[in-house]
Amino acid sequence: MRSTTNTIGLLPSRHDVIQVADPRAEALRTRDALMTVVERVLTKGTYILGEEVEAFEQEWAQYLGVVACVGVANGTDALALALSAVGVSAGDEVITVSHTAVATVAAIEYLGACPVFLDIDPQTRCVDPRLIRSVLSPRTKAIVPVHIYGQPAPMDEILAVADGHGLKVVEDCAQAHGAAINGRKVGTFGHAAAFSFYPTKNLGALGDGGAIVTDDPSIAETLRALRQYGWKRRYISQTQGRNSRLDELQAAVLRFKLPFLEERNQRRRTIAQSYQAALVGTGLQPPVSVRDTLHAMHLFVVESRAREALEAHLRSAGIASARHYPMPVHLQPAYAGRLRGSDQLPITEALYQRILTIPCHPDLEDGHIDRIASALRLWQEPSSRNGGRHIDPNREKHP
Ligand SMILES: Cc1ncc(COP(=O)(O)O)c(C=O)c1O
Repeated sequence: MRSTTNTIGLLPSRHDVIQVADPRAEALRTRDALMTVVERVLTKGTYILGEEVEAFEQEWAQYLGVVACVGVANGTDALALALSAVGVSAGDEVITVSHTAVATVAAIEYLGACPVFLDIDPQTRCVDPRLIRSVLSPRTKAIVPVHIYGQPAPMDEILAVADGHGLKVVEDCAQAHGAAINGRKVGTFGHAAAFSFYPTKNLGALGDGGAIVTDDPSIAETLRALRQYGWKRRYISQTQGRNSRLDELQAAVLRFKLPFLEERNQRRRTIAQSYQAALVGTGLQPPVSVRDTLHAMHLFVVESRAREALEAHLRSAGIASARHYPMPVHLQPAYAGRLRGSDQLPITEALYQRILTIPCHPDLEDGHIDRIASALRLWQEPSSRNGGRHIDPNREKHP
């Protein structure tokens, strides 16, 4: 049912709300090919750690330019196992950010290790490398930089401090498949890197999936044991491991999708560019373009002083939006008041109240992109001079 009108025309029906992520669109568009993939796995009869996983591990390692890849059950496990494989254990401190998915911090605590928070750089929204030295202690063992939203963290600066203090670096690449710094893909900088293949990620499975990549064959060997009960030989555990395996079906789906990743990332960036153009003069802060980096544009996140009004404005144009994340980890009930660094995060605390994710996935139709760009163009941020109050965006801005 079409109801009221707004400044950019008729309101779309409830069924036509543009979603922040839409994995179903890709799944349905490629349904026949995916069915062939399922059929292939079905008839092979190996459903866990078989040819598909092995082939995907090789293909993903080759795509990134690393020596080895180990498929696991999800991105959180990938982080925890990677940290364990580089030598992090209970009581060690691991430096990371609070401006991330809670999984980053949960993975550190799985090991009994202690997350220590650092603030972010407002440009990259990733860890501010200038702050690392300020939180080092004799217990510091590793750093987990998060390439948040698909923006690469400043790896050269991070590695310079880490190398100088003998720290391990595990990159959280869950949002950054295909992102790069000076042409070198993220995931290739640290001692190890963790990826998630959750369905809405830039490379997403049809269920959970994850992987760790590394250039160190001994880390890869440790990981292959850790993901399966610590086995070196079937049924014989050399170390204490767990069960975190990538299954054949997910690996086969990922193999099918991988050849399209570059093209789909490029489409994300093209969509982002049209939003950037639409935002000129609105006062909304778009993602900053950071020199020498290639953004994977997993999420297009703007900053607004009037976020609730912006959400309502988009909603009235049939556009969903989201907050990634509604609360930084250090303020969430499970973590509040107990993690070192939590009291020194002014940039993180200012940012989370302003961020809003605008739909920017490669399955958006051209008409959807136009609708979003039009809605953005009509927005006007309240100026600081009017006390941060919202000005009616429905007035015609560009007569
Ligand atoms: C930054 C970040 N790290 C880790 C993860 C964990 O991945 P998964 O959901 O596959 O466990 C995610 C996924 O949401 C993420 O966005």
